[in-house]
Amino acid sequence: MTQRIALVTGGTGGIGSAICLSLADQGMKVVAGYSNEAKAKAWQQEQKEAGYDILIQHVDVTSLESCQQAVAEVKEKAGGSIDVLVNNAGITRDGVFKKMDWDQWNSVLTTNLDSAFNMTRPVVDDMLEKGFGRIINISSVNGEKGQFGQTNYSAAKAGLHGFTKALAQETARKGVTVNTISPGYILTPMVAKIAPEIQEKIVAQIPVGRMGAPEEIGRTVAFLADDNAGYITGSNLSINGGQHMS
Ligand SMILES: NC(=O)c1ccc[n+]([C@@H]2O[C@H](COP(=O)([O-])OP(=O)(O)OC[C@H]3O[C@@H](n4cnc5c(N)ncnc54)[C@H](OP(=O)(O)O)[C@@H]3O)[C@@H](O)[C@H]2O)c1
Repeated sequence: MTQRIALVTGGTGGIGSAICLSLADQGMKVVAGYSNEAKAKAWQQEQKEAGYDILIQHVDVTSLESCQQAVAEVKEKAGGSIDVLVNNAGITRDGVFKKMDWDQWNSVLTTNLDSAFNMTRPVVDDMLEKGFGRIINISSVNGEKGQFGQTNYSAAKAGLHGFTKALAQETARKGVTVNTISPGYILTPMVAKIAPEIQEKIVAQIPVGRMGAPEEIGRTVAFLADDNAGYITGSNLSINGGQHMS
């Protein structure tokens, strides 16, 4: 069987790294999208030393043009079209709504939601033509339940659910599945920097009694990306230790 090609946006970040490694462990040729070149090169070297050969690709997910160019370059360097797209890049710009300015709103909406259009549009035709594709959108528990101080982020992440369910219907007959994963608190380097007493308060609200590990998201992406996961589409997998049950 030919080796599947996967592109993970934000592939060098906390959760993105774990997704890349899980997909590589599954035998895929993995390309990590990045916006910060110096960080990406150091990351790639680190992975090489750990035994992983992962390609890297610059892409600004807020720009359709950049995404189109990145997809063309990935096809060239990976030697084929993209089979698995993980829309993982994301940012937060928190603030209560009455103090939120347009830039805070717009940057979060463009990076977390417009990105799904910008990245998926250039890959979907190849998937439909080939009769195989896996599109996995990384949302958040805060897109399911809303979060104080995150009207922008909650709106963008909730938007991914609508996008997923609508596109899943359009592509189902052609072997292209579209799903969403909604992580709760995941212990990435960024979250690990939160003061220990605040971390304790957060963990107290999580029935499982701990934060999630990035690898737990990585393994779920790999599960959905598998050739045998063709009957799972339009779904959302909540991975939040029971923090929110819908
Ligand atoms: N950590 C959590 O607890 C948690 C919980 C729920 C959902 N999530 C979601 O999981 C995803 C990954 O988050 P993370 O915790 O791993 O955060 P992270 O370490 O900050 O990673 C975010 C990634 O997004 C990339 N990115 C940001 N803006 C971009 C742009 N304009 N173009 C291309 N790439 C861009 C960054 O790339 P560069 O570094 O190259 O700039 C970075 O690799 C996000 O969608 C986040 O909302 C995280």
